[in-house]
Amino acid sequence: MEKLLVHGGSRLKGTVTISGSKNSSLPILAATLLTREQCVIRRVPDLSDTNYMVQILGTLGAEVERASGRVIVAAEKVAPEAPYDLVRKMRASVCVLGPMVGRLGEALVSLPGGCVIGDRPIDLHLRGLEALGAEVEVKGGDISVRAPDGLRGAEINMRGKFGSTVLGTGNVMMAAALADGQTVIEGAAAEPEVADLAQFLNAMGARVEGAGTRTIVIEGVDSLGGAEHEVIPDRIEAGTFLVAGALAGDDLLLENVCADHMGALIDVLRESGHPIEGRGPQALHVRAATSPRGNEFATEPYPGFATDMQAQMCALYATTPGISVVTETVFPQRFMHVPELNRMGANIRMEDATAIIKGVDSLSGAPVMASDLRASAALVLAGLAAEGTTEVNRLYHIDRGYENIDDKLRRVGAKVERAKEG
Ligand code: EPZ
Repeated sequence: MEKLLVHGGSRLKGTVTISGSKNSSLPILAATLLTREQCVIRRVPDLSDTNYMVQILGTLGAEVERASGRVIVAAEKVAPEAPYDLVRKMRASVCVLGPMVGRLGEALVSLPGGCVIGDRPIDLHLRGLEALGAEVEVKGGDISVRAPDGLRGAEINMRGKFGSTVLGTGNVMMAAALADGQTVIEGAAAEPEVADLAQFLNAMGARVEGAGTRTIVIEGVDSLGGAEHEVIPDRIEAGTFLVAGALAGDDLLLENVCADHMGALIDVLRESGHPIEGRGPQALHVRAATSPRGNEFATEPYPGFATDMQAQMCALYATTPGISVVTETVFPQRFMHVPELNRMGANIRMEDATAIIKGVDSLSGAPVMASDLRASAALVLAGLAAEGTTEVNRLYHIDRGYENIDDKLRRVGAKVERAKEG
């Protein structure tokens, strides 16, 4: 296993190019199963999660080629079963379910395992497929979905206890693209990744309207064809580098970003005093505030503050003067970074799903243990601003979602090195 050594105290200066979105790429790659024709997806980030998805497509029978960000998929045949060995490695593999049922009228997919950020049930995905007329059975750790007479369009409310579901909306949208008649999804997730998936589906010949809002209308078509698509910039990678700029930036420019997808984060960072400016349509400039201030926010489904940026903000506020209050409403248990930040000298107290952060003058480097992707990113950020060296163990978590994070950080002046653990 590898770890990242982060030597604190450098100032960040230069340009970072943001990669294509992981969370767009995964369902879009799964959607290529909906057609027997060739699809070309560009700007797919080279990450362990996208590698798993490519492997899953291959095992299901698709021919897949991958070179410098371009993935070419031709799924002339698709097997109806996605076994546990494949699915267990990545929770997002559940998004093959919708395309498999849409194309084949049946699918057997192992239930994805639990995950440190919470229970992560898939009841809403299954409720949506049932509403389309599928029979769903969960047995022996597998989900079996069957629609021997095909799927039928329906009105579906996908709102759950914690709001909308991103991959659930995607799954139902993909299945409904080939259903008979009209499907209306109410309470849909409005995340940019859902809109990106809809754009790809429409390029394949689907008829999806309203993606990116709470109501999506899909007119089913008989078949879909091949298409080319470039995935949107990764708003969470971009956000993580914005926070790096707020912590330690002298003059940091982020290229290939879509600022419109990051409104809530930019607002909160500006309120805390950090100057952020647009530089043309696809670039953002950030500097650390001279007098940063604490702040208060709660995570929410898009367009609210993204849960995937909550851990990084806790790292920022750990050394921001004043009290900051961060509430997690999407995944209330997603605070594994807090004990690790406290080991580095932060003063963070938990009250249910709210972190109360009293800014300290400085953190001190320590060996810390990453437990999920965004928690790991938060520890790297904390290390940039800490005194001494922070050793972030279990780097494989970060490699799931950040393409070449160590190279990108080094190029803008951070002192980080990858090393073998133990
Ligand atoms: C997506 O996961 C992202 N993953 C997550 O990013 C992100 O944190 C999450 O959306 C929320 O924005 C991908 O896109 C691959 P949800 P998803 O279904 O779709 C509850 C990262 O760090 N829920 O929108 O699986 C659920 O428990 C990852 O890149 C149900 O109750 O999340 C949660 O409280 C981690 N029943 C809320 O809804 C269901 O059937 C939102 O989850 C489904 C979800």
